[in-house]
Formats: sequence, C-alpha cells, structure tokens
Amino acid sequence: MGREPDQDGAPRTYRIAVIPGDGIGQEVVPEGLRVLDRLAASSGGRFAFRYDHYSWGCQYYAETGRMMAGDGLDRLAGADAIYFGAVGWPGVPDHVSLWGLRLAICQGFDQYACVRPVRLLPGIESPLRHATPETMDWVVVRENSEGEYAGIGGRNLGDRPDGRNLAIQSALFTEHGCERIISYAFDLARTRTRRKVTSVTKSNAQQYAMVLWDEVFARVAAEYPEVETEQWLVDAMAARFVLRPDTLDVVVGSNLFGDILSDLGSALAGSMGIAASANLDPERRRPSMFEPVHGSAPDIAGQGIANPIAAIWTVSLMLDHLGLPAEAATVMRAIERTTAAGTLTPDLGGTATTVEVGDAVLAAMGTPDAPDA
Ligand code: NAI
Ligand code: MG
Repeated sequence: MGREPDQDGAPRTYRIAVIPGDGIGQEVVPEGLRVLDRLAASSGGRFAFRYDHYSWGCQYYAETGRMMAGDGLDRLAGADAIYFGAVGWPGVPDHVSLWGLRLAICQGFDQYACVRPVRLLPGIESPLRHATPETMDWVVVRENSEGEYAGIGGRNLGDRPDGRNLAIQSALFTEHGCERIISYAFDLARTRTRRKVTSVTKSNAQQYAMVLWDEVFARVAAEYPEVETEQWLVDAMAARFVLRPDTLDVVVGSNLFGDILSDLGSALAGSMGIAASANLDPERRRPSMFEPVHGSAPDIAGQGIANPIAAIWTVSLMLDHLGLPAEAATVMRAIERTTAAGTLTPDLGGTATTVEVGDAVLAAMGTPDAPDA
C-alpha cells in the first residue's frame, strides 16, 4: 500500500474489496465507487482500482445462515482496502449481524484504530447555535479491538426461569491494547495544528480497567512532550462536545465511549449522513476497512434519499491510507463545494436524492480532461 506506480509505466492497480451490506449501504457505496472511478480516469494512467464485490449481509444470512462466507477473511486478506457500507436488517438480530460481519472483520484483522473525523462542512447547519467550520474540527480515535466489545460474558449460567435471567458482560483492557491506541492518537495529533490529545475514561467508577488506561496514557504522553494532553471523564466529555467543541482536537477513548461520542459528534456536525470512519491496522499487516459511521437506516432505505456524503468522505480516508493524499484532498474539496452550494439530501434539510448529491460531487471534481486543480 502506498506503493509507487509500477516502474514499467503500467497503472498501479489497487484491489478494493467492496461490501455494500444492507439497506442504504447498497445505495451509498455505489456513489463512493463512482468517485474512485473518476479519480482513476483522471489519473493519466497512474493508477486504477479493481473491485471485488461481496454480497454478504442479512440477505446472504437468510439464504445461507451465515453473515459472510466461511473463508471470508481469507478472501479479503489480499485486498489493499475494504470498502464497507452498513450491516443490519429487521428480522436478523442486530448482535448477530454486527458480530457476523463488521466485528468479524474488524477484530479478525485486528483493525485496532477506529478513526472518526468530526467537522462542520460549509453550508451545513449544526444544531449548535454558534458552531462554525473553524470551531468544529476534531477526530475521535476509538479503540477498536477490545474494551467493552470484547464479547466476553454469558447468559444464565444454569437453568433460570423467566424473570430470573442473568447476564454478564465483561470488558477486556490490556496494557498492549491501551498503549497502541493511545500512541496512535498521539501520532495523529502530531500531524494536526492544535496538537492536543484528550483521553476519555470513567476511572472514578471503573477502578480497574480505566485506571490501567490512565496509567498507560501518562506513560505514552511523556514520550510526546510537544503534544498537549487532557484527561476527562466521559460524562463530562459528552457535555463538553456540546458546550465547548472548539477546545477539542484528538479525542481518544475505549470502544464503547468512542462509539457513543462519535455519533454525538456526527449529530453536532449536522447529520449521521456525513460521518466517515476508518478501521485501521496502522501496521498494515492486513487490509484496513473504511465505512460510513451510520447503519443501514431501514427507515429510509429504498427511497433513494440516503445521504452519500459519509460514504464519499470515507473514500477520502481510504485514499489517504492508500498513499493518495492529493486525491483524498480532491474528494474533500468536492464534498465541501457540494454542501456549500446547498445540494443536500433531506437529512440536511435539502431535497436532493442520493444520486443527485453523487452527481454534484463528481461535477465538483472536474472532468478527466480538466480535473479539479
Ligand atoms: P442508523 O445509522 O442506520 O440510522 C439512524 C438514523 O439516522 C435514522 O433515522 C436514519 O434514517 C438516519 N441516517 C443514517 N444514515 C443516514 C444517511 N446516510 N442519510 C440520511 N439519514 C441517515 O442507525 P440505527 O437506526 O440505530 O440502526 C439501523 C441498523 O443499522 C441496525 O440494524 C443497526 O444494528 C445497524 N447499524 C450498523 C452499523 C454498521 O454497519 N457499522 C452502525 C450502526 C447501526
Ligand atoms: Mg455507532
């Protein structure tokens, strides 16, 4: 990944595994692929994308009893990146669909860093009265391999009658797991203007795991003297997202806290329909996965009105990871022009369809002959 074009002049071909999944995943992923196709066409033969499409998801489950093929991870392993839509559909319990596909890939490939940028785009109104693109620009870095989503626990532990059911759900925090995600957050902060990392825990109530996290945070922080640090409790942090978003830069937290805070951030930035995310293996041992933060949205699926911006912003994150930062920036500029011009889907108060927003982004990218400068 990030390789130079082939020496013999042939285009460098990136292999992208495409998993649209369920509901609006099927509607927004094609818009992201159109953007990739346009970039390849405009690259003057420097690079190309090859897509391997996988029809895994809840329909596949209905037909086979599995969310993905038994050898699914082996098939994905050779990809340069995985482009994922969303998973989940009424009729399949959400824990079955999530564990059977999204978590199976994230955890199976040890994509331990989940990165979710929060930015207010031009032309979009935040529910926060005073928010501007300048005051809303931060990144949630979510631990993505252990914590509260480690899947450790059990039900009932014996024959228990109705009304006496019992469940245990444990969280797993390892020193290694804390250290690598916190280090990732510091490395990311170093590339940003503000250079600040805020650690989010609940160490007052969770006296074992979160205190271990705090200890590791202090140790890692000492290696980055040029980065400002803060430690906040998650409940206070939820309030701060709303009250002082201008003070945030890189926010690092556990799997559960990062999940919740990033949805809050997306809502503050205008809609779930614009929030992008990357599930990264920073060591590049195996492919990383890029997906919009939102789910399959059964309430609007099939109507052609899902916002494709999240899926297209996700493509920009993928391009960065593939070593195509200029192309990633081109996509972000095209998104910003589109929102600034007011081409918006109903979730943002507009009347445009999914495809119309995709068309507008492509138009803002320029043509293959006259690409966006
Ligand atoms: P959701 O994100 O699918 O929808 C929440 C609300 O946001 C809905 O009102 C929906 O219409 C709206 N919304 C989401 N994305 C949108 C877009 N691109 N454009 C316009 N509006 C958008 O979350 P929900 O309803 O809690 O879950 C639905 C299903 O998705 C469930 O089966 C859940 O398990 C699954 N899910 C999957 C995720 C994943 O694949 N990573 C993440 C979250 C939920
Ligand atoms: Mg979530």
